[in-house]
This record gives sequence, C-alpha cells and structure tokens, in this order.
Amino acid sequence: MANAPKVDAALKATFGTSFTDKIAITHYRNGAWEPFTIQPYGPIQLEPSAHVLHYASTCFEGLKAHRHDDGSVHIFRLDRHMQRLHDSAGLLCLPQPDPRFVSEGIKNLIRECVDWVPEQPGALYIRPTLFGTLASIGAAASPSSEACLYILLSPVGDYFETGLKPLKILIDDDRMRTAPHFGSAKTGGNYASALGQIQRAKQKYGVQQVLFAPDGDVQETGAANFLLISDHEILTKKLDNSFLHGVTRDSILELGRDLGYKISEREIGVTEVLEWARYGEAALSGTAAVLAGIGSFVYNDEVILCNNGEIGPNTLKLRQALIDIHGGKSPDNHHWLTRAC
Ligand code: PLP
Ligand code: COI
Repeated sequence: MANAPKVDAALKATFGTSFTDKIAITHYRNGAWEPFTIQPYGPIQLEPSAHVLHYASTCFEGLKAHRHDDGSVHIFRLDRHMQRLHDSAGLLCLPQPDPRFVSEGIKNLIRECVDWVPEQPGALYIRPTLFGTLASIGAAASPSSEACLYILLSPVGDYFETGLKPLKILIDDDRMRTAPHFGSAKTGGNYASALGQIQRAKQKYGVQQVLFAPDGDVQETGAANFLLISDHEILTKKLDNSFLHGVTRDSILELGRDLGYKISEREIGVTEVLEWARYGEAALSGTAAVLAGIGSFVYNDEVILCNNGEIGPNTLKLRQALIDIHGGKSPDNHHWLTRAC
C-alpha cells in the first residue's frame, strides 16, 4: 500500500488525530444539496457569522470501514448511521440529507482513499459532519437555510488510551449528560455539555469516563452506551430520548440474542449496577470503543470493583463476535456490511 507508513503512524497517534489526504464536501444552497466534490484535506472557509459558530447547528456521525483478508473494504451498518444522521439533522432543524446521497459520498471517498484503510485490528473511522452556514447572528430562533456537509476519514486503532485494560468509570447520579429531550441527537452541544463533568472526574478520580445517572437513572457515558453482562443476560437501558441510540449497542444485543443470552431493556438504578458488579460484568459499547470492559466504578468517593477488576469472559466473547463480523471472519448473517471497494 502506497500510504502504509502514514497509516502506521496514524495508528500509533491518539485516536482521531490523523486523517486521509482527501475529504468529500457538499453545500446546501437554494433548497438543494450540490453534488459531493472530493478535495484535499485542509482548512475550510466559514463566515464569522456562520449559524453553527453562534447557535451550534451541527451534528455528525461516527462509523467504521474494515479491511478484509482479501483486501476488500466494508462499512459497518451504513444504513443505520445514515438514518441517525438524518434524524439528528431533523432535531437540529438542519437540512436533512438523503441517506442514500451521503452513503454514496462515503463509498466514493473510501474508494479514493482505499490505501489508507488499515489492516485489522485497525479500521477507517468515518466522520460525516453537518453544520449550518447561514451568515446571520440574528438567526438565534430560526434555522440555518444553508449548510455544509463534509466527510472526514481517519485511520484508527484503540479509542481508549488504556487499550484492552479494564476501564475505571465514575458514576454521577447528580448531573445529566445533556437535556433529556436531546440525548438521541449526535450533536456537538451534547459533548460540550458533558465535558466539564468528565474533565473534573478524570482529574479527581483518574477515571476514563463518567456514567451519567441523573436521579439514579443509569443512562450512558460521555461517548458510549452502557451494558451489564452476565453468563445468561445482557441488560441495558430501554431506548428513550435521553441518550444516544448506539448502533453498537443494537448490534451487541442482536449478537447476544444469537448466542442465547436473555436480552433485557429497561430502566436501571445505581444500586443495581453496584450489586451486579459483585457477580457480573459491565461494558461500554460504541463505534470508537467497540465493547470495552469496565474493571471498577467510583461512586460516592468509593472504588467498587466490577468482576474483580477484570474484563469478563462474556464481554470478551461478545466483543470478539462483533469484531469477527467487522473483519469478515464470520458470516454477515444480519447483512450489516456494505462493500465500498
Ligand atoms: N453514546 C454516545 C454519547 C456516543 O458518543 C456514542 C458513540 O458514537 C455512543 C453512545 C455509541 O454509539 P454507536 O455505537 O452508534 O457508535
Ligand atoms: C463514536 O464512537 O463514534 C463516537 O462518536 C465517540 C466519539 C465521540 C469519539
């Protein structure tokens, strides 16, 4: 591969800091999207009065493409991610791009950047990003009638710097990650809203993430969904608008069902998490995180081990089942892969 040294360097760099040399970009003007153009990676121009810079009219997606042993490249659950981008845009009153239009843009860009797709366990992280460009600081209470959508590609390895080590997670039963009606939007404002809390938790407790559980309602962490796992059952919060409907969460539940686990989706309390930690496993699911095992919780200044501080066998089994589908090592029975090239 022509770009092999650059891909190697990207895999060693912090997650999401290295990019392919091209992006795909389109603009929404006069009520329609222009065709995508592919251009070199580099700064883009924005009016200082652009809607997004003042009123946070932006949303994005995060999905991955994986290289198989025969060299072909496959995108994981493209349709689901495109539908979520469409839904997030709707929540943000942004022009909603047709999922097929963005899918084609992604596939074309990957074909142009095929040399940048790492061998497994690396992957190509895909970040479609949509934002309002209307030049108006007066439009606080009206949507942006103009928008930009670009697709960014990043060769990636592990998201958590701890790699496959068990995670330490603070349970915060006081604050919410985001406004309760807006958690299902994949929008920058939700990450901004959680950031201070996560920073304080990292500094004070040395944790990697915060599990938000406002008034005891266990929801999700700042960048991944939360699952409780045992030898027989996978338990996670039932879908509602307060948290992001993870594609990985859905995939793990499907794979769990295939493997004979009981799947439970319902409300979960903090006491139940801490009880479960004594005998069972807990993990975070996400495109970036894949399925990352939790080794301990911090709650009320106390450290509580989960699964004796180890990543559990069920978590590893489910993680492997997912990775095997990503990498074409097991059959794609659910038709989750879209071949890009
Ligand atoms: N929750 C949040 C807040 C996230 O940022 C992510 C990552 O995308 C997830 C959950 C998991 O979603 P998915 O599995 O679709 O990547
Ligand atoms: C993802 O898993 O795709 C995410 O969006 C998490 C992230 C904020 C890096």
